[in-house]
Amino acid sequence: MLNIVILAAGLGKRMQSSLPKVLHLIAGQPMLSHLLHTAQTLSPDRLMVVVGHGADTIRQAYVGSSPPISFVLQTEQLGTGHAVRQTNDQLLGEDANSFTMVLYGDVPLVQADTLIRLQDAARQGLALLTETLSDPTGYGRIVRDAQGRVTSIVEQKDATEAQLHIKEVNTGMLVVRTHNLKKWLLSLNNSNAQGEYYLTDIVAMAVAQGIEIQTVQPQGAYETLGVNSRTQQAALERLWQAEQARRQLDAGVTLLDPNRFDVRGTLECGLDVTIDVGCLFEGNVQLADGVTVGPHCVLKNVLIGPGTHIEAYSHLSDAQVGADTRIGPYARIRPGTVLGDRSHVGNFVEIKNTHLGQDSKANHLSYVGDADIGQRVNIGAGTITCNYDGVNKYRTTIEDDAFIGSDTQLVAPVTVGAGATLGAGTTLTTDAAPNSLTLSRVKQVTLANWQRPVKKKAV
Ligand code: UD1
Ligand code: MG
Repeated sequence: MLNIVILAAGLGKRMQSSLPKVLHLIAGQPMLSHLLHTAQTLSPDRLMVVVGHGADTIRQAYVGSSPPISFVLQTEQLGTGHAVRQTNDQLLGEDANSFTMVLYGDVPLVQADTLIRLQDAARQGLALLTETLSDPTGYGRIVRDAQGRVTSIVEQKDATEAQLHIKEVNTGMLVVRTHNLKKWLLSLNNSNAQGEYYLTDIVAMAVAQGIEIQTVQPQGAYETLGVNSRTQQAALERLWQAEQARRQLDAGVTLLDPNRFDVRGTLECGLDVTIDVGCLFEGNVQLADGVTVGPHCVLKNVLIGPGTHIEAYSHLSDAQVGADTRIGPYARIRPGTVLGDRSHVGNFVEIKNTHLGQDSKANHLSYVGDADIGQRVNIGAGTITCNYDGVNKYRTTIEDDAFIGSDTQLVAPVTVGAGATLGAGTTLTTDAAPNSLTLSRVKQVTLANWQRPVKKKAV
């Protein structure tokens, strides 16, 4: 049985913000969401978040989340031990197989495999996630005896001169047998330099009971970094992006510059994917084998088929792209768009809520919205689907093999039949017959020997 308690009642004064600290973002997601997600991968029987400052805002942010999150209120912040004690009545499991894990809401990037190692080590009763730092200032120090066994944790403000030299520090994360934790929490006191109930005092209590404390170290330095200020937030963001870049490189993706690569969500890549500099991936993005993404593209919630090339400065969101297509440079693909295999969408083309069939092309300067476009259709430069009458939206249908001349307006709802041709400059207000030429254009006239006006002389 596993309880996970996330401490998130602190103020976060140094963020200089009206938003509670744990709702500030790392990689596009609130810090607390990272932790909740990681915690959920451990399948805890109970997951609780202790809130205090900004409690209502935090609760509000997770209304309707699934599985539901339980929040426990700590009205006064009297220390980490006091915070965990607020959950005492709700901790599950009295037997030796129930454990409780404590995490910090402002240390968002601890990884599941580290927590699993911590959980395994805790079978002996209590395991601490510790780290050795060249500058341990501010942290609780791990005190060990001559045999190297942990005897206690001493906070910076309570430490002796000798203890201040200890470089092994407490990250704050721990796993402990639940029934002991409950007992120890009730006997904590606040007679220390800060007048707080320290969770860390349970370590000496465990030792007194003959429990041998286990310690586990994280794999990545970013896993235990906390965020107390905007500077620390920005630094952790960069470290995390570097880690994500490293994972992509390890998986065989070519990143032209791993320092100019950002993922705010998940990015899954097939074989031989190449990503140029300055790209941003948001939500869930999947790039199939052989996809190339040019510089400075933004891709959000998109599926890109194999062999597709997306060129510089393209912006794609909530869309599905087939195989061997060509997009951009400067293309904008908006929600609800499906691009068929081998289709082309060129520069300054905006496509929204449209199905573009296989081998169809819209290469230059067009707006195509709410349209169903068949196969092998050519959309000329400057084509506009007039899909909106100011109140309602209507669809445009263009059947297979149609050819839309340049500078054409398709006033929806309207259908262009299969194989139809629209002459350049047409404003189509009624359906165009299949396999015919339709054009709406003032007939061209010529005035022979016509003289241009000449400039009047000043009098
Ligand atoms: C704590 C540890 C210290 C460790 C350090 C790592 C104790 C006594 N000390 O110190 O050994 O090296 O973290 O960063 O545990 N919180 C509450 N309610 C409270 C107090 C804190 O929810 O009443 C939350 C905070 O929001 C924060 C976390 O607990 O997320 C840690 O609190 P903080 O005040 O930063 O603890 P430290 O003094 O840094
Ligand atoms: Mg702290």
